[in-house]
Amino acid sequence: MRSTITRREIFNSAHRLYRPELSDTENIAIFGKCAYPNYHGHNYELHVTLTGEIDPYTGFVYDIADLKKIIKEEVIEPFDHRNLNLDTQDFAHLNPTVENICVVIYNKLRPRIDAKYDLKVKVYETIRNYSEYPV
Ligand code: NI
Repeated sequence: MRSTITRREIFNSAHRLYRPELSDTENIAIFGKCAYPNYHGHNYELHVTLTGEIDPYTGFVYDIADLKKIIKEEVIEPFDHRNLNLDTQDFAHLNPTVENICVVIYNKLRPRIDAKYDLKVKVYETIRNYSEYPV
């Protein structure tokens, strides 16, 4: 029987959304408050969902302790209490929008999880805004 298991994590990161070739005024016109030059933080909420067969012996789709460890290594340690633009290579030349954060996290986690499991990543930037990948 196929089912899902989801691990929820929180990380706090600073970011700024902007195009370097544009002025501050132009950037704020496109990206709003997220373009303010001195950065700001979000409390990001990450949901990682794996879909697969329930193991008849354990009753698990996936060992949640293993999933927790992978997320910690790939996402929490590099992103939590960091500036995504300045402190990570992932967003050195990529706008850290919630859409891009989702894709980056998916690409970090996918190689760590056997291909027999479907992987879905959802990131909330605020309680009202979130993105999911893949679609
Ligand atoms: Ni923002």
